Amino acid sequence: MSPSLRTCLAASPLPRLEFQMLWQQVLGVSRAWLLAHDTDPLSPAALAAYQVLEARRVAGEPMAYILGHREFWGRDFQVTPAVLIPRPETEFLVECALNAIADTAGPHVLDLGTGSGIVAISIALDRPDAQVQATDLSLDALKIAQMNARSLGAKLLFSHGNWYDSQLGSKRYHLIVSNPPYIDAQDTHLVQGDLRFEPVTALTDGADGLDALRCIVQGAPGHLLPGGALCVEHGWDQAAPVRTLFQTMGFIAVASLRDLAGIERITWGRWPA
Ligand SMILES: C[S@@+](CC[C@H](N)C(=O)[O-])C[C@H]1O[C@@H](n2cnc3c(N)ncnc32)[C@H](O)[C@@H]1O
Repeated sequence: MSPSLRTCLAASPLPRLEFQMLWQQVLGVSRAWLLAHDTDPLSPAALAAYQVLEARRVAGEPMAYILGHREFWGRDFQVTPAVLIPRPETEFLVECALNAIADTAGPHVLDLGTGSGIVAISIALDRPDAQVQATDLSLDALKIAQMNARSLGAKLLFSHGNWYDSQLGSKRYHLIVSNPPYIDAQDTHLVQGDLRFEPVTALTDGADGLDALRCIVQGAPGHLLPGGALCVEHGWDQAAPVRTLFQTMGFIAVASLRDLAGIERITWGRWPA
């Protein structure tokens, strides 16, 4: 007799929620449908498709890559192994960015290292009057970001390059925002858990974890309008050195914001008007 979802769950090494999410993907149905049909016989083709996904998950591959999408700031973004998986703490970066331009009509915004485009696209959709430009060194990441912009109906400009060397010309911005790679290259977490599957260039700057942040903060005055803001995400222990970088460059009103866990995750400041 063909097995049902109920008998498969009893034999599955996965937690119930992940089991259900993979079956939703295989059958293209809602969670409610799965619960209502948990004794229906499963087809051999569906079982074979599920087993491929389950094996990937058992090997440690993140759910977001297996499912191909992840929710961020209330919207669904496509993700592939070419991009960092959106993190909940990055929603604080979007919040900080939106606050920084709240009083600016038609703001010009630059997102450095856009990855899947979550930050730039969220800003563009929440502020339709903004002109948002998103850059990345990875062409594969830019393709995903462009795909997300298209499917979510966001209009922005994409450019390829190394931080500020991304065909920005002489344009200046009301806001520069970035979630750069900030993990120390020696950090052993890079070879553990989900991080093993993410692009290494999205995680670490190949140095002490502050290299990309230094480049972004030190280059910002040359690309900000007077009174413009810079908002960056950083590691749990980097707030103090990042504030010092901002202050050394001459930023004012420099502050770090805490995430829900009470950790200083975002630092921002204004370029004097
Ligand atoms: C931590 S990920 C952030 C991605 C996305 N903004 C997010 O929050 O999910 C850092 C991004 O910076 C990009 N990146 C790394 N080095 C870069 C460089 N030198 N210039 C531009 N982008 C770079 C990576 O390709 C990656 O997409």
